[in-house]
Amino acid sequence: MQYKYLGDNQIKISKIALGTWQFGGQRGWGSFDISEGQKIIDYCIERGINLLDTAEAYGESENILGGLLKGKRDKFIIATKIGGNNFDYNTAKLHLEKSLKKLQTDHVDLYQIHWPKMKHLWHREDMGRKDYENIFNAMTRLKKDGLIRFAGVSNFRIHHLKEFSNEALDFIVSNQVPYSVLWRCYDVDQTAEFCELNNISFLAYSPLAQGLLTGRFEKNTEIQEGVRKANILFNEPLYSKALEVVKGIKNIANQIGATPSQVALKWAMEKEIVATLLVGARKLKHFEENVKAVDINLSPEQINHIDKLSLEFQKEHLLPTLELWIGNCLQEDLDKYGLKKPW
Ligand SMILES: NC(=O)c1ccc[n+]([C@@H]2O[C@H](COP(=O)([O-])OP(=O)(O)OC[C@H]3O[C@@H](n4cnc5c(N)ncnc54)[C@H](OP(=O)(O)O)[C@@H]3O)[C@@H](O)[C@H]2O)c1
Repeated sequence: MQYKYLGDNQIKISKIALGTWQFGGQRGWGSFDISEGQKIIDYCIERGINLLDTAEAYGESENILGGLLKGKRDKFIIATKIGGNNFDYNTAKLHLEKSLKKLQTDHVDLYQIHWPKMKHLWHREDMGRKDYENIFNAMTRLKKDGLIRFAGVSNFRIHHLKEFSNEALDFIVSNQVPYSVLWRCYDVDQTAEFCELNNISFLAYSPLAQGLLTGRFEKNTEIQEGVRKANILFNEPLYSKALEVVKGIKNIANQIGATPSQVALKWAMEKEIVATLLVGARKLKHFEENVKAVDINLSPEQINHIDKLSLEFQKEHLLPTLELWIGNCLQEDLDKYGLKKPW
């Protein structure tokens, strides 16, 4: 395995991490077999994968993980997330205590704010000054309590991050954002640049665009209700355009005897801003294939070619303000694609 460091070299994490939203078995990922989960966790240990990502919002994920990690907790850095609207110390501590109980541990290594408050989302209001102060205050106190080791955010854009004090920016080690060949919105809007300047690394989620970059989807594949139907990339007019990019990835994969997933993951893990790829898994055989991405080589020409495909897709087809989930986009953005919010 290859590793990178977060936050002034304080945490060493594997360049591929396990995303366990799938372990939660809700919101359309489909059923989850716990014995398969055990095999995936054991494979992580075998391959030196040391970061596990979960969230209080992922259904049974924290609970299941807690059970699977019995006697193995010390092998992993656990990253979980707090949802909700209030980030004051007392509220955050209550949320965290519930997560700790489910995870059967006395601390989490990385505690992340899942989403910034946004007026057009379930929060019904934007982040205010007090929220930024509350986050910093809560995270520093939870760290002093010994309940968390490090603090991160997730889905925070440059305009959110700029509202934190310098002290808070020094304290935050990571921003978990969607990042893949098919998703550069947090790159082109300069969030990446701001994070790089402030030593905040990206934990890249949906690095396979929820399976689109594996090459298993075709123009006429029926997209089931659930997670993928909610993802803007699996909806026209973007779906057909995205498949064109996947064709380019497949060509490179064929040239080097790798799979499209491995090519897409290798390209993303070479990015300086990306500390790790959170690769979601429900099946061991998929995860094994994906982890082998660390072992393949892409030439500088191949990397440049993928960059070109990726940035052309981003610039020609994606508005920088878009979110991956249709329900989280601004309606005025969706209007440009002829799409409607599901609620
Ligand atoms: N912070 C946030 O707001 C946020 C949002 C989303 C995700 N995340 C985190 O990021 C993790 C990963 O993101 P993600 O799960 O959305 O997307 P992903 O990792 O891009 O996609 C994972 C899915 O792709 C399919 N897949 C993976 N490898 C495959 C292969 N080799 N062949 C065929 N299919 C393959 C599987 O689908 P099937 O299971 O259907 O086979 C798998 O569940 C999550 O588990 C979660 O921890 C965070």
